[in-house]
Amino acid sequence: MSVKEKLAHRAATVESFLGACLKGRDIPERLLQSMEYSLLAGGKRLRPVLALSWCAMLGGDSAKILPFGASLECIHTYSLIHDDLPAMDDDDLRRGKPSNHKQFGEATAILAGDGLLTEAFVLMTEAGLKQGLSANRVLRAVNVLAQAAGSGGMVGGQAMDMEFTGRAGLAPLDELRRMHAMKTGALITAACECGAVLSGVGEDDIDNAREYGRAIGVAFQIVDDVLDVVGDEATLGKPVGSDEEQGKSTYPALIGLEKSKELAREYVDRAVKYLEAYSGDEQAFLTELARYIVDRVY
Ligand code: IPE
Ligand code: IPE
Ligand code: MG
Ligand code: MG
Ligand code: MG
Repeated sequence: MSVKEKLAHRAATVESFLGACLKGRDIPERLLQSMEYSLLAGGKRLRPVLALSWCAMLGGDSAKILPFGASLECIHTYSLIHDDLPAMDDDDLRRGKPSNHKQFGEATAILAGDGLLTEAFVLMTEAGLKQGLSANRVLRAVNVLAQAAGSGGMVGGQAMDMEFTGRAGLAPLDELRRMHAMKTGALITAACECGAVLSGVGEDDIDNAREYGRAIGVAFQIVDDVLDVVGDEATLGKPVGSDEEQGKSTYPALIGLEKSKELAREYVDRAVKYLEAYSGDEQAFLTELARYIVDRVY
């Protein structure tokens, strides 16, 4: 199986859990439609798959952390809905469909994002309440994920992105690095770290998961910036050329396409070093997945 097939195979497990996770809640019809419209529109499901694989590689029961994986995808999807709003990146296409605000209007899109963010906390705590995971592990994982999603993580990074976008000239490399680490790296890092925390291993393994996540997280956003230049809209399911149009500070704009790809590869090389202590199928998959981040076209 190719790494792409392995990713899709693992994503399918996440997909079926996501399909059921909002059912049975008393959510007003249009809000529910809007939340599921974006949540169930596909996507690589990279963050939940990372959490599941780290958990499995370290000897944990990945089926038990599925609600946690789903919560990562809820937070990620909310960030995409808000990222596309006219006040932010103003993009009309996402996951191959009209962006949430194009389909449902801005007010519902904002609320769908709010709803998904909050549902994430229901799902995370359910991982403890319904799957019998230790309360201490769940508490720590919730803390890790909340910090990563919040103002010192994803939201903070998005705020930096917006600040740079309104400013004359490009952001310097050190600020760009910080912005990438926060807006995209933080959630990817938390996915790996939470997988390790929930598997019940010790601090050394948790450190390895976190450092692997940090390195692939930055590589992932560098490649996202590259694909905004060289990618194909139909394959990506989102607009290309959007960053340049909006005067975004990106790696390709600052150091060029080739150097950007080279840098992403360096980060990936760094990431796979943190897998050296392990073996088996999940270790092989996480190694291939890190490499795939640079080679992906979607
Ligand atoms: C896109 O994330 C936004 C970034 C943080 C770079 P993904 O490329 O993981 O988007 P989906 O989930 O596959 O749609
Ligand atoms: C977004 O970065 C990161 C998020 C936290 C959503 P981008 O704005 O580059 O993501 P895309 O390209 O729209 O998916
Ligand atoms: Mg953006
Ligand atoms: Mg965007
Ligand atoms: Mg982008």
